[in-house]
Amino acid sequence: MSLKHTYTLWSPIYDLFVDRATRGARRRSIARLGDVGGQTILLPGIGSGLDIPFLPGGARYHGLDLTPAMLERARRRADAADMEIELRVGDAMDLPYEDGRFDTVILHLILAVVPRPPHALSESVRVLRPGGRLLILDKFLRPGQRAPLRRMINPLISRLATRTDVVFEDLLARHPDLRVIEDSPALAGGWFRHIVLRKDEG
Ligand SMILES: C[S@@+](CC[C@H](N)C(=O)[O-])C[C@H]1O[C@@H](n2cnc3c(N)ncnc32)[C@H](O)[C@@H]1O
Repeated sequence: MSLKHTYTLWSPIYDLFVDRATRGARRRSIARLGDVGGQTILLPGIGSGLDIPFLPGGARYHGLDLTPAMLERARRRADAADMEIELRVGDAMDLPYEDGRFDTVILHLILAVVPRPPHALSESVRVLRPGGRLLILDKFLRPGQRAPLRRMINPLISRLATRTDVVFEDLLARHPDLRVIEDSPALAGGWFRHIVLRKDEG
């Protein structure tokens, strides 16, 4: 079963499981945006749009997700918040946008979900303008962390919902063009992290 199918099944109950548990962390992550006046901002894997109520006004927002059933929920959430956002079906590992299009890319609970996290990060970096920022909220292992249970369940759970074996530093090592601005614990004793990256100017 593909992630698109499992998230179609998850879609009616996703918010019940995830909203309350992540609300504080996503609010704090989005607060790092600061003034977004005139910016163009992308949310790959926007899901049901749980970030939408926290997005500050003044920017042009784009959201993309593999699962139409999740996007329908994001659409309803955006309409309820009276927020303009361009939503489309697409793959975070093969983004349908030109290079350097976005000022900021928000990656909440998507890098450690997709089957090929390095592709998702590379695509987000590609569509980010030089000097732009990536805001990440996700669960990552530390280099050398054994985490036997998380590694053991990964083959099953990665097909159903999310990966539990992604080492962020392994992703970052492929990107000499990224600077770490912040890396701090977000949830679950630091398993979930707030990470802010900046793409080099030149
Ligand atoms: C854990 S949810 C996170 C949703 C949202 N970002 C949030 O913070 O609540 C993962 C989302 O990623 C989507 N997804 C899975 N694989 C994807 C891919 N390759 N490209 C885009 N979206 C994908 C799923 O449909 C689901 O909506």
